[in-house]
Formats: sequence, structure tokens, C-alpha cells
Amino acid sequence: LDSRRVKVVEVGPRDGLQNEKAVISTDVKVELIERLVKGGLRCVESGSFVSPKWVPQMASTADVLQSSRLSALRSTHKDLSLPVLVPNIKGLDSLLALPPNLTDEIAVFVSASEGFSRANLNCSVAESLSRLEPVFRTARDRGLKVRGYVSVVLGCPFDGRVEPQQVAHVAKALRDLGAYEVSLGDTIGVGVPRGWDEVVGACEQQGVPARQLAAHCHDTYGTALASILHCVSQLGIRTVDSSIAALGGCPYSPGATGNVATEDVLYALSASEIPTTVLAFDELCQVGEWISAELGRENGSRVGKAMKGR
Ligand code: HMG
Ligand code: MG
Repeated sequence: LDSRRVKVVEVGPRDGLQNEKAVISTDVKVELIERLVKGGLRCVESGSFVSPKWVPQMASTADVLQSSRLSALRSTHKDLSLPVLVPNIKGLDSLLALPPNLTDEIAVFVSASEGFSRANLNCSVAESLSRLEPVFRTARDRGLKVRGYVSVVLGCPFDGRVEPQQVAHVAKALRDLGAYEVSLGDTIGVGVPRGWDEVVGACEQQGVPARQLAAHCHDTYGTALASILHCVSQLGIRTVDSSIAALGGCPYSPGATGNVATEDVLYALSASEIPTTVLAFDELCQVGEWISAELGRENGSRVGKAMKGR
């Protein structure tokens, strides 16, 4: 494998949909995952086991995972990963109460700032890290891989500037707990290449190399692609999170728009001759058109719109 190859983690069915007000049927969620996988994506974050009072849209995650259509996908694609987000041991217990082998991976999330930690997890950063200890332990016992997210790495809607050292501290804590990869979330989409230099540099100084990091950009200020190209071509990051049709926005991040669009990331990487793990670009553009129509939204992907006009 080309060591420059970039892995794309699709977060649309989770990060993209969690903020939608209207109830989206389990069928549509399953069909979205199915289409994304048929479009060549092999890591598709498929839901979260969080409090349904806090994030009602994700309440159907157990149904989504248990759908027979996803079982069929799992048996066809042995390399498929359908991670789900869990905030605490209760979330992991809900997953483990289901039949086995619905997923091989969970994702946990910690904030780099105190303000966002309160809003998103209702506890301090230190408390959230200690609450994750049993989650990591149980996941290890059950053979589940754990991906860690750090939120608000380039700015917090409540606390403002976030120190790169604080991001690095949380990233290292997650790695030391057992996360195989730490995804750095620019939750409010304010990042630019210079900020990523500082954050990734601070993580590396703490002993978390760029190869264990992922860039998770929201595109609120239109700088996500600039940041991603910089992270990949200059900083050695090899995993990028994105969302089909730029769906999304975090419920606890006022004003944040969607994640950077998967189609836009794939176009920018391929036009820069940076290989990715995804091949079926045209199909994915159609998936973006389809889900935008299902949700009654304009397609948030620039590339998706351009491809439609061709
Ligand atoms: P809390 O209220 O402090 O928790 O919420 P609690 O332990 O006091 O429990 C309160 C109630 O929630 C109880 O129910 C629990 O049973 C229930 P009640 O007795 O009132 O009926 N509960 C749960 N129910 C289902 N699943 C669970 C669970 N845990 C407790 N796992 C809690 C704490 C973490 C649960 C809450 O704050 C929560 O669910 N937060 C989720 C927030 C969320 O999903 N945010 C979006 C995802 S993160 C994100 O988008 C950022 C990311 O994309 C990266 C980036 O962009 O930066 C990853
Ligand atoms: Mg996010």
C-alpha cells in the first residue's frame, strides 16, 4: 500500500444526521449506510448510543445496526467497519446487550475545553476521561477497537481560544487509555493550516505521532479543505473524517455548519494526486444528491453540485 494513502472516515450517518430535527426513518439511515458502502467507503460511523433526551435522532441506532441489510453488507465486505459513538459505560452496555458482531469499533469523545465538556457531556474534562476508563477496559475485553475524538481543538464556542497543549494532553490521555487513533475535531470549523500546525505539533511533542491522528473538520468558515490538504501534505496525517453532502453540525456547538463534504475531500485529494482508500467517486456524488433530496436540503457539497451540472 502507498504509505501516502489517505483513509476517509465517513461520519454522515452519525455526525451528519444527529442534528436533524425531523425524525429520519431507520430505513433511510440504513439505506444511506448501504449506499455509502456501495460507493466505496469502508469506515462508516453509523450512529451513537447517547442519551435519547439529549440527541433524539440517534435513538434508533440499535435498530440501524441490527438491520438485515447491514448484516448482508457485513458479510459481503469483510473489511467494513461501522463504528458507533458511546459517551459512557451505559452507552457501551447498550451496544453489548445487542447480538454480537454488529460492529468491531466504538468511538469515544472528550472535549479539549471545559466549557464544551459541560455542554456536550455534562462533566469536566478530567471527569470525562476517568469515566472512560471502564469503557476502554470493557471494549478491550470484548475485542472492540476504540477511536478517540477530541472536540473543539481549534476553538471553543464557550471558552474561545483553546491551548494546543490542552489538546495534546487530552489526545495523549486517550491514546494512553487505548485509543488506536485520535481524531482531532474542529467542532466549530474555525481552523486554518497555521492552527493545525500548532495542534499537531503539540500532539507530536507529547508523543502522539501524526500517523495516529485524524483531521475532523467542520466547514463553518470555509477553511476545512485548506486545513485538510495541509494536514495531509505537510503534517503527515493519514486519516480524514468527512460527511456526505456536508451533512451535519453539532447540537452543542451553536452556529456550526456541517462537516466538510466527503465528495469535496475526495476531489481535492485526487486532484492533488494523493491516493485515498475510496474509488467510486461518481457513485458517492449520487449518494450526496439522494440524501439531500431525502432530507429536503440543498446539497452542501460544492463538488456534488458541480458534478450534477455536468
Ligand atoms: P447526564 O444527564 O449527565 O447523564 O448526561 P446521567 O448519567 O446523569 O443520566 C441522565 C439520563 O440519561 C438518565 O436517564 C440516563 O439513563 C440517561 P433518566 O434516568 O433521566 O431517564 N443516559 C443514557 N441514555 C442512553 N444512552 C446513554 C446514556 N447515558 C445516560 N449512553 C450524557 C450525560 C453523556 C449521557 C449526555 O450528556 C449525552 O448523551 N451527551 C451526548 C452528547 C452528544 O451525543 N453529542 C454529539 C456527539 S459529539 C460530537 O458531535 C463531536 C464530534 O463529532 C467531534 C467534533 O466535531 O468535535 C465527535
Ligand atoms: Mg463533529
